[in-house]
Amino acid sequence: MNEHILVCVAWPYAKSSTHVGQIVGAYLPADTFARYHRLAGNKVLMVSGSDEHGTPILVDAEREGISPREFVARYHRQICEIWDRLGISWDLYTETGTENHYRITQDFFLTLYDKGYIFKDTMQSPYCPTDARFLPDRYIEGTCPNCGYPAARGDQCDNCGHTLDPIDLINPRCRLCGSKDRALEILPTDHFFLDLPKLQEPLLAWLSEGKEHWRPNTLDFAMNWLKEGLRPRAITRDLDWGVPIPLDGYEGKRIYVWFDAVIGYFSASVEWAARQGTPEAWKTWWVPGQCDPPVKSYYFIGKDNIPFHTIVWPAILMGYGNRNLPYDVPANEFMTMSGAKASSSRGNVIWTRDVLDQYNVDTLRYYLSATAPEGRDTDFTFDELIRRNNDELVANYGNAVHRTLTFLQSKFGGVVPYPQTLREADREILAEVEGGFSVVGHNIANCHFKDGLNAAMAVTRAANRYLDEQAPWKQIKVDRDAAGTTLYVMLQVISGLRVMFSPYLPFSSQKLHHLLGFEGDVSAGSWRSSEVPAGTMLPVPSPLFPKLEELANV
Ligand code: MF3
Ligand code: ZN
Repeated sequence: MNEHILVCVAWPYAKSSTHVGQIVGAYLPADTFARYHRLAGNKVLMVSGSDEHGTPILVDAEREGISPREFVARYHRQICEIWDRLGISWDLYTETGTENHYRITQDFFLTLYDKGYIFKDTMQSPYCPTDARFLPDRYIEGTCPNCGYPAARGDQCDNCGHTLDPIDLINPRCRLCGSKDRALEILPTDHFFLDLPKLQEPLLAWLSEGKEHWRPNTLDFAMNWLKEGLRPRAITRDLDWGVPIPLDGYEGKRIYVWFDAVIGYFSASVEWAARQGTPEAWKTWWVPGQCDPPVKSYYFIGKDNIPFHTIVWPAILMGYGNRNLPYDVPANEFMTMSGAKASSSRGNVIWTRDVLDQYNVDTLRYYLSATAPEGRDTDFTFDELIRRNNDELVANYGNAVHRTLTFLQSKFGGVVPYPQTLREADREILAEVEGGFSVVGHNIANCHFKDGLNAAMAVTRAANRYLDEQAPWKQIKVDRDAAGTTLYVMLQVISGLRVMFSPYLPFSSQKLHHLLGFEGDVSAGSWRSSEVPAGTMLPVPSPLFPKLEELANV
């Protein structure tokens, strides 16, 4: 089947390098998913970019005394470097600072305005007289009116997950100055609002139909939000950093960062099409009815982004009209760091770059995929990363490969033996590999990445059992051809594993690809094994994964 799979991945703020919580939450599952679908013969477009607007970025740049443009350029570069090192296989990773993105965001704004989904109103907005600025949501802290949490932010309560308006907060304070000298004032200011109540009914109808494949937490969250009744949301801010409002008289105001960021999925697709030299190609991905079966668009995000992807972005698309809505939003829960919530202010963030400086990239990819917070929060520890590398990657997968390839070198001079008629056990293990492709593929396609990885590991264990039972090191003493057949079969099995693991572990799969005598890229092949032909001379192997010292011994 030839499907069109649009892979949209949350846009990270160009405000810091990335930490492992972000990787496991969105980028790694998205990449695994995209790699699988390409091998399965589907058309994939995977896009994202750096989210460069918003007051936090402006404030951080001001604090450093550089322009916000310079500031985001630095972090955009750092983030791109991480994608390279992690092997995230973007079709396009761009940024919200492009002329293309500005133009498209303004088009969305004007179209929604003309169609009556955006209206202007005067709002009462918190203003800090000490800092002489209107304060963005995140720069206000106060008590959550819903759950009573004392450190809720103006846009969202981290405790109960409710999205908020700053004006709802009880006892609001400015986070820049703490409001020690002068209390926040509430001043009138004109803004534009997205009329979500107008879209309440269509959103409810959409979420009520054919969403059985959604993760229950994601759907419940969206439904609960809807059932409370949507309110209009301000989509402009008093700020001079961001996409300008395309109407006269609003020079000191900008479009709100969340409104422009979600439009990035669309604008990046347009940019991708233009860069390819096929400027109309975005239509295949975004205009309903352009392909059969219809495009499926997936949004890989962390759970804090659920409201914007299940309500706000679909509302924008519905209001704009004639655009594909999300097919699935496989949001992840959080990964804590040695038991604590990742927080850069508390200093317990684990930077991806630091882990990659110390460990093999596929060790990190494996560990994160194996412990992904798919249905519940999970925890990252270096002890577990090392243990899983040694006990699972090295002792299971790496071992099956290394035993086979070294035995081939020592007893067959590295030349793939010609097999005899296959025995029952040979056929069984080859069937196990076949079955593995279907189970792993199914799981990945359904966004059950952990189950997929477990299924691949189960095939690997079966391969080790097969090798132990055939024991070619014994067979060779009485029947060289029997040992040769075992080896031939094992080479076909690990050729299958090479492909089956490649969505998760692309670097070691590529290495194994060469060790098995294949040329080019494993990612250019398809979702099935290919034969390692008898008579081929294979190179001298080195282990796929390094065994790591346990931390206490380092
Ligand atoms: N920058 C936001 C965050 O890191 C995510 C934006 S996702 C987008 O939480 F869809 F809005 F781009
Ligand atoms: Zn202040």
